[in-house]
Amino acid sequence: MRDKILKNELEIAVASGDWESLRKMACKLEKETAKLEVEEKEKFYTSTSLSSEVGEETILVTGAAGFIGSHLVERLLKEGYRVIGLDVIDLGGKGDLKPFSEKLLQNYIYDQDIKRQNVERSLGHSRYRFYENVDVRDDEVLEKVFRENRIDQVVHMAALAGVRDSFKAPQLYLEIDEKGAERMLAMALKFQIKYFLYASSSSIYGGVKDNRPSKEEDIPNPQAPYPAAKVGAEIWAHTYHNMAEELIRSGKRDRDKPLWVCGLRFFTVYGRRGRRDMALRKFVELMARGEPIPIYGDGCQSRNFTHINDIVEGIVRALRNPCPDEIFNLGGGETTRLNDAIELLEGYLGKKAIRDYQPPQLGDVHASLADTSKAERMLSYRPAISIEEGIRDLCRWYQMWAPFKEAYQRYQQLRDKGDGYTKADLQEALSLRDEMERLTNVKEDDSEYLVACHYLACTYRLIANICDCL
Ligand SMILES: NC(=O)c1ccc[n+]([C@@H]2O[C@H](COP(=O)([O-])OP(=O)(O)OC[C@H]3O[C@@H](n4cnc5c(N)ncnc54)[C@H](O)[C@@H]3O)[C@@H](O)[C@H]2O)c1
Repeated sequence: MRDKILKNELEIAVASGDWESLRKMACKLEKETAKLEVEEKEKFYTSTSLSSEVGEETILVTGAAGFIGSHLVERLLKEGYRVIGLDVIDLGGKGDLKPFSEKLLQNYIYDQDIKRQNVERSLGHSRYRFYENVDVRDDEVLEKVFRENRIDQVVHMAALAGVRDSFKAPQLYLEIDEKGAERMLAMALKFQIKYFLYASSSSIYGGVKDNRPSKEEDIPNPQAPYPAAKVGAEIWAHTYHNMAEELIRSGKRDRDKPLWVCGLRFFTVYGRRGRRDMALRKFVELMARGEPIPIYGDGCQSRNFTHINDIVEGIVRALRNPCPDEIFNLGGGETTRLNDAIELLEGYLGKKAIRDYQPPQLGDVHASLADTSKAERMLSYRPAISIEEGIRDLCRWYQMWAPFKEAYQRYQQLRDKGDGYTKADLQEALSLRDEMERLTNVKEDDSEYLVACHYLACTYRLIANICDCL
């Protein structure tokens, strides 16, 4: 109803060519929408299990703009924690990536918009502070973040993820995934952080051996630079824990200031807002558009696909059950062949996949399978989301998100014109406004509408800017 009235008012102003009133109206609506966005955020993140302890805790999440990091930030805010996020976001802007090929860089730069949208959904929340452009290898900036905030625990997620690309740039993976973790640990030691959790990966196992699930005590067998760097990070975490103990033993550090560390080996994580280089996320997009999906190998390879909600639950459980120095597998409850996962996608999207079988890729393992008994025993971790449920949710999310993605691209094109706007641009901005307004009403218990709300406010700003040019 409110939207209908607004729409009429806007149309009347356009028809009469009264650009000054239209500009004023757009500025007012921008402010109102921005206010609504903040209110909606506070509502969305209303704590569900707020305890006084949680309310006191501040958690630093690195890689907070990424897939897992952004879901984790959402959950931690919902739990009532204060959260500090950091992310470099535009890795391509750094000179040290110059030696690498365009294609490799595209993989990291591609998602800048998606990463910004990931940040947008929590930004402005009173318990959230986000630092962009912070590289985990940059001591000076990291020190600033640690000095400006009283941080209790760190969850280190920032990394270059992905096995295949790591073949092309081993030193970059070493730099970011291993050295970056080492730098974060050095900060944790210096700033007396209680607990340091970090993301490791199932790929360190190098696949399933003798048909039995991989256990934490298995000897790592990396098949590519990415898992090698993750093994390195695990060893550094163990070493920094030992260093803190040694300092305590020698009386150079207070007894009550140990550095506890915990590595979480994730198994093929999927779900809403998943990374576009990962199979299920890539397939859902290509299939929805009726394009062929590349399958490397015969599709009989199996993965212990783990839904993002189960991963986030595992991280939160690890935060709540600190251990001095442990590593846990976090995997889904079942293993699924890629071909079977594609059949599920076909069912939920109601579309037949066009399968483009290609030779296997470097570093691909035939199977991954988690033994999660340690996490079950010590963290009460039990993956709850079946592959059917997870893929159904992924498809539902994609169908909801795709129109927003389109609207966002149209918005970007119009915004980037800068000036010299015409009446046709105004019509386009108004039609975009209608679309964004519609998307803010899709609430489906997901934060997607918060992003739409933000860009609705941006669209009103754009309308005001266009009026200035007319
Ligand atoms: N997604 C999976 O299936 C999976 C599986 C195993 C392990 N992991 C690990 O989980 C973590 C999160 O993975 P994801 O899937 O969310 O990946 P992602 O790429 O979506 O997120 C990683 C984030 O780290 C940031 N980043 C990269 N280099 C940085 C740097 N030098 N300084 C600061 N920020 C930097 C990126 O901008 C990105 O936002 C990673 O450590 C990854 O290795 C993921």
